[in-house]
Amino acid sequence: MSNNYSEEELSQLPFRDESLELEERVKDLLSRLTLAEKFKLCSGRLMWHTKRIKRLGVKSFTMYDGPHGVRDDTMGKTKSTYFPSAICRAATWDPKLSYAFGKAIAEEVREVGAHMLLAPGINIQRTPMNGRTFEYQTEDPYLNKILAVATVKGIQSQRIAACVKHFICNNQETNRFTSSSEVSERALQEIYLPAFKATVQEADAWSFMTCYNKVNGIYGSENNNLLRERLMENWGFRGFTVSDWLATAYTSTEGCVNAGLCLEMPTSKMLSKASLKNAFQEGKFSEETLNGNIRRLLRVMFLVGLFDDKSTLSSGSRNTPEHQSIARKIAENGIVLLKNKNDLLPLDIDKLKKLAIVGPNADNKFGGGDILSGGGSSVNYPPYEITPLEGLKQKCMGRVEIIETPSEADVTIIFAGLNHEHGMDAEGEDKKFFELPLEQIELIKRTVKQNPRTIVVLINGSPIAMDDWINSVPSVIEAWYGGMEVGTAIANVLFGDVNPSGKLTLTFPKKLSDSPAHKSERNFPGVEEKVFYDEGIYVGYRYFDKEQIEPLFPFGYGLSYTTFNYENLKLNKEKFSKNDTVTVSVDIVNTGNRLGAEIIQLYVQDLKSSTDRPPKELKQFEKVNLEQNEKKTVEFNLKFSDFSFYDDSTHSWVVEPGTFNILIGSSSRAIHLQKEIEYFE
Ligand code: BGC
Repeated sequence: MSNNYSEEELSQLPFRDESLELEERVKDLLSRLTLAEKFKLCSGRLMWHTKRIKRLGVKSFTMYDGPHGVRDDTMGKTKSTYFPSAICRAATWDPKLSYAFGKAIAEEVREVGAHMLLAPGINIQRTPMNGRTFEYQTEDPYLNKILAVATVKGIQSQRIAACVKHFICNNQETNRFTSSSEVSERALQEIYLPAFKATVQEADAWSFMTCYNKVNGIYGSENNNLLRERLMENWGFRGFTVSDWLATAYTSTEGCVNAGLCLEMPTSKMLSKASLKNAFQEGKFSEETLNGNIRRLLRVMFLVGLFDDKSTLSSGSRNTPEHQSIARKIAENGIVLLKNKNDLLPLDIDKLKKLAIVGPNADNKFGGGDILSGGGSSVNYPPYEITPLEGLKQKCMGRVEIIETPSEADVTIIFAGLNHEHGMDAEGEDKKFFELPLEQIELIKRTVKQNPRTIVVLINGSPIAMDDWINSVPSVIEAWYGGMEVGTAIANVLFGDVNPSGKLTLTFPKKLSDSPAHKSERNFPGVEEKVFYDEGIYVGYRYFDKEQIEPLFPFGYGLSYTTFNYENLKLNKEKFSKNDTVTVSVDIVNTGNRLGAEIIQLYVQDLKSSTDRPPKELKQFEKVNLEQNEKKTVEFNLKFSDFSFYDDSTHSWVVEPGTFNILIGSSSRAIHLQKEIEYFE
């Protein structure tokens, strides 16, 4: 190329002028790129980087996994905070913690010199067998959206791009590179798309990662309907799309370019210089289309400050005491107390002499490992990890003796669960079993016989069967994969320094066949590489409610060491029409004897509809802290759209005149108060 600029000349070019409008800078840089340079920008280099355009001083844009802790090129040599897994963060039902997490992890991305975090993963938890359930947030579209928006806002508050993944219907790992998710428009609209859409419209997400799978027969990376029509044209996405790693394998060059795939990662195949050149010469895509894709990537490069004077950007920080404390708080708030017969918990440190600790996860570490041996792309390399045993030793030091013999202990704690080996909670394969490993079930049964005062603490990232043993155990805690502060968090909850307040973000079925995605092989893992989402919108509790199946633990469920009363439900009107806001208020009282937090859930039920609708749908929630005897009034504002469903025949959202029920509960199956309201046109 003729223009060989000196650094001095480069710095004078308009796109380097920080005082110019973003779009002006993008336009100027784009106009200076040759066709060959544009081709170069379409695919990655060395796993995590884009290619440089030295002539114009365009540096590599760098992106790293993962959702729970930043990795970088050193693969473990540098240490980043290991945050709790997404399912644990979601179980806090606290968008403020998702924001804090996003901000903190983005500071770590900045510190390792990168520009984008390959997170959050917000695929709906359709089946408890998905190997990546732990990386995702929930089965419910509303909760998913609230937490995704907060996370993206937190990340991007640091001028680090979030990469919302995997767009879309990558709901299982089996055949993920080749299978087609066969899903209805209504299910897409009501269940699978809302959180993705909200990250664009409410958080201005700067990047989307395509899925490996096909959606209704077309691969995510060349899916014009998903990328160009919905994401870009309908939702107004201004960021760029990136393929999941090697997700373009079975696509075509023009398919990807025309659909709006901007960047192929990690290396070039469909969007290599040669493939692009050939397809272009054959007239399979226009330069204008290519420009549109490149413009998006350049825009985000500017947004993250790739061309700005480094000294004007924050230098980021990693593994600070503040980040450690955010990791601990998420772990503490995400822990779900599933069962607590006769108030065995919390343990009283002054009354306990000997505590037995057993089980395979007592001293196990879940950070570290490597990508190939099951850790998958969410693997991370923490500077330390406090195991449950270490956390309890610390808590009990000098006060309670820790032993390994249940029969000699006042109380026994079994740390059971899964890990990130293949076939468990891991990427690349789905779970092999819905039950705990047999030896753990035997351990629980044996231990309870030796000591009936036994608590099971589960460390895992997906629903598991418990029918076999749960009746014999007085207390059960779901602690998830709680990051590098997990041991401290668990000890704080077991001894009551922290009152558990997490609630399940997905249904725990009693048996797998109860689950809507497990009616037949068609639904999971699919036949002839097609996975039929026959359950439609009836995902999670929507299905369990409709079929009146008793789950092991319902969506929204979680106990506390205190108790709450729900009183005085009021609606500001008895009837509403399209432009009205319905204000719902309810009083919550802490009736127990300690400080606690409650998650108040508001569900809407359509009493009569021309279309089949779920018996209830979550529309709002609020987490409140209450001192002993304290009462707070919680207020929710509902809009017309909170009462709507997607009508397949008219391709639009519809609210039908008639009566709706407003349900207020502490879980999807514990509705304490309800009131009717009428909609009129
Ligand atoms: C995963 C993505 C991840 C990417 C890069 C893929 O296998 O599906 O979630 O971000 O690898 O590691």
